[in-house]
Amino acid sequence: MKALVLGASGFLGSYAGFALDAAGWAVTGVSRKPVGFYPSVAPIKGLDDVPPLIRAGNWDVVINCVALANHEACEEKPEEARLLNMELPALWAAVAGENSARFVHFSTDAVFNGKSNEPYGEGDVASPQSVYGQTKLQGEQAVLAANSQALVFRTNFFGWSPSGEKGILDFFARGIETGTAMTGFSDYIVSSLYMGDLFDLLVEAVMKEATGLIHLTSSTPLSKYDFGVAVAQAVRGDVSLVHQGSLADQAMLGNRGHNLGLSVTTLHELLGHPIPSTIQGIARALAERKAVMDYFGGMGTEQK
Ligand SMILES: NC(=O)c1ccc[n+]([C@@H]2O[C@H](COP(=O)([O-])OP(=O)(O)OC[C@H]3O[C@@H](n4cnc5c(N)ncnc54)[C@H](OP(=O)(O)O)[C@@H]3O)[C@@H](O)[C@H]2O)c1
Repeated sequence: MKALVLGASGFLGSYAGFALDAAGWAVTGVSRKPVGFYPSVAPIKGLDDVPPLIRAGNWDVVINCVALANHEACEEKPEEARLLNMELPALWAAVAGENSARFVHFSTDAVFNGKSNEPYGEGDVASPQSVYGQTKLQGEQAVLAANSQALVFRTNFFGWSPSGEKGILDFFARGIETGTAMTGFSDYIVSSLYMGDLFDLLVEAVMKEATGLIHLTSSTPLSKYDFGVAVAQAVRGDVSLVHQGSLADQAMLGNRGHNLGLSVTTLHELLGHPIPSTIQGIARALAERKAVMDYFGGMGTEQK
């Protein structure tokens, strides 16, 4: 499969090069920042260059990892959030469809308000609490309206990052290794999926020619505190370094939902096998850590 990854410099996009190459796909990354670790790159001057690149490449799959994915940046720049999270994905989805390329787009659990005690299904009412969640929900709808064969994954993920500082796994693993006390919210629950698992499941879903809106998360909602404890246990580190905190006490984070676990029943039925849990993902992430960091550092320049 010949795949074009848009947003190859981002947290998810950078992992796509590692994981899809390992799956045997021919992966080309596109980004405004250099991504020297990618198997192949297509330089662009700006996002205006994306439609001609999609038209010219004879791609089997276009995977969109571009977004304004920071809650605070979206509140500050709602027009930019709308452009990056809705308008451009819809345009690219249409261009991919016109050129017989599958279009894969990512959305978020933040389309829900987090007030349910049960994991959300695809059919549950979305009620985003933030500009980020609102523009991502609009993006889901716009992508599928522009291209009914597109695949839109609502997700939440973790993994290693090129900088070593991007996500929750880096945060807890580094903290435990350096003996630093850390806080994890016990009232902030998500179904975070290891990115290695995410791309394996994505490949399976694409090969099955799945379309539409599908939840692509782990099978097990877990609090951020429990995630930290699980990382400490997995590395046989000092669990007492991980302290319980409360999202409810963080006024600055007031637009985050608390219970954002998603149901993966649809994905389970589509693929015909169980979906990995977050704790299984932590074990796999630790086993793959050296290979992932070699990938980021072995070929890269700017991102070391
Ligand atoms: N992170 C999570 O936990 C999470 C959870 C649920 C869903 N998601 C979704 O997963 C997807 C990927 O998220 P992520 O965490 O990987 O995001 P990220 O690390 O912030 O990466 C975003 C990508 O978009 C590019 N981008 C942003 N603004 C741009 C602009 N004006 N022009 C050109 N490129 C621009 C960035 O390029 P530069 O590097 O050049 O800025 C980067 O490649 C998003 O759709 C997000 O909504 C993420």
